[in-house]
Amino acid sequence: MCGIVGYIGNKDAREIILNGLEKLEYRGYDSAGITLRNNTADTFNVYKDKGRIAHLKSIVDYSYDSGLGIGHTRWATHGIPNYANSHPHYSKDSRFFIVHNGVIENYKELIATYLQGSVFASDTDTEVIAHLIERFSAKMSVSEAIRKTMSLLEGSYALAIIDRDNPHKMYAAKNKSPLLIGLSDHGIIVASDVMACVGYAKEYIPLDDKSFVEVDGASYKIKDIIGKPMEHDVKEIDIDASNIEKGEYAHFMLKEINEQPGVIRNILQRYFKDGKVTLNGPIKEALQETDRIYIIAAGTSMNAGFVGKQIFEKMANIPTEVHIASEFAYNMPLLTKNPLFIFISQSGETADLRAVLVNIKAKGYRSLTITNVKTSTLAREADHFVEIMAGPEIAVASTKAYTAQIAILGILAYGLSDGHINLYKELSRVAISMENIIDKREYIESLVKDYLTKRNCFYIGRGIDYYTCLEASLKLKEISYIQTEGFAAGELKHGTIALIEDNTPVIAIISQRDISKNTRSNLYEVKSRGAHTLVISTKSVHDQDDQIIVDDVHELFSPMLTVIPSQLIAYYAALARGNDIDKPRNLAKSVTVE
Ligand code: G6P
Repeated sequence: MCGIVGYIGNKDAREIILNGLEKLEYRGYDSAGITLRNNTADTFNVYKDKGRIAHLKSIVDYSYDSGLGIGHTRWATHGIPNYANSHPHYSKDSRFFIVHNGVIENYKELIATYLQGSVFASDTDTEVIAHLIERFSAKMSVSEAIRKTMSLLEGSYALAIIDRDNPHKMYAAKNKSPLLIGLSDHGIIVASDVMACVGYAKEYIPLDDKSFVEVDGASYKIKDIIGKPMEHDVKEIDIDASNIEKGEYAHFMLKEINEQPGVIRNILQRYFKDGKVTLNGPIKEALQETDRIYIIAAGTSMNAGFVGKQIFEKMANIPTEVHIASEFAYNMPLLTKNPLFIFISQSGETADLRAVLVNIKAKGYRSLTITNVKTSTLAREADHFVEIMAGPEIAVASTKAYTAQIAILGILAYGLSDGHINLYKELSRVAISMENIIDKREYIESLVKDYLTKRNCFYIGRGIDYYTCLEASLKLKEISYIQTEGFAAGELKHGTIALIEDNTPVIAIISQRDISKNTRSNLYEVKSRGAHTLVISTKSVHDQDDQIIVDDVHELFSPMLTVIPSQLIAYYAALARGNDIDKPRNLAKSVTVE
């Protein structure tokens, strides 16, 4: 989703901002732009357009020195992706340049109240902010004008602002959308994601909601909306720059699929000591005391949550529900007396989840976030958090985070289980078996060429395999654009089987011994109606005609293995179609608007 990078200092702002924006490309965007100060001429130049950063780089002027600028990648919400709607936007007299992440819900009311008769260059909600600041700054200081504007805005915003009339300053403001400032001895960075600072700053300050930052040369002040200084923590940036490079791989997605065995081993190292789980006491207590877990998530993380439900109920005996965050936020079901909310989010920034977190915190309920980004909003704001240790996940389509999330859910439940599953041993076997599947990737690529020739595809499975089907189908549709659905195998015949034609690909996932026969019957039903079938099964339930056979592990953790062929199927299907695998159309990695 949208990205912000701003810089003021004595290094080249152009380089820092463009590099920073490139590091945020993985989040998904459709336009990019930058405003740069020409140090010598003391002028400001705006370059922006629809398209990739590579295009932006080709239209930027490199002939002058610049020590101040703000840049943006835009994921369109208000107004189509085009030149006019790209950020930075500027005020009526081009005094204020701004970039914005988030959505201003009351921008039409603000126009009606304060900006009647103003002419706007774009269809965005953002431009209104620039006009308001300029209008208010006629009667008050720029800081006051920005804070007054903040007090009027409803919705979410992360803002970086430049004032043409004061080129030694840069401003930032934040509410609900992530924003931080990166600190270095050469200058100050404002960014929406710490990734943008890697290589340029060693420390950063995550900003709280309703905070306002005034950067003056090398110093900064963080204030609240009425101008009172706010407390803040300075944190170390501990991301290894080599972790965000593709290395020998053609795509981040392939790299991340390959990293999964290593991630599981990291998790074992981090959360086990002498075969026992080393979870901190308060987390164990929260799990012991709850009468029901409510898992709140979106996308791939929700699919991991479905597996988590099985794990919590079968290993730890805790009733568990899984909810789509965007539905739960505004339509809460009846809760039990002592609920525990578990938020699962790779990025830790998904706005739909945050809306729920804010809501349940206000009601005094306990919360735990499972995330890959320990510095994220959801990690900071929940009562507890557990890191999944997957390392930066750059491809939009999530792979290693999914399997890591399941491992962590297992570890949480294991602390409360009767120990009949040796989790350390199980997960170690998972890691080895993952390697066995990844080694067969060329074979999987050859299957894809044969099978995925149609516009649509179905995944079918029962029980825990059904949940893997949901993730497998999400992966395939996300990056190959083949219309794919995951179905409970027994439900297909109640309607959807009408869509099966000659050669429609149907992929079955079969790992659960007690119901494997039923899934096979459903497979015959579609086969006899012309479907081109492919089976991913485990050794103990396989048939000799099955195409992909994976090792046996405990059923609750079989999704960590059966999902891997489906990740590779998605990858190779997208590769064969020539799609932009790491940055699929219309998608964003971190969805910071509701
Ligand atoms: C977006 C991404 C999905 C992801 C979902 C949840 O929709 O495109 O790949 O699964 O967000 O993201 P989260 O960071 O909360 O896990």
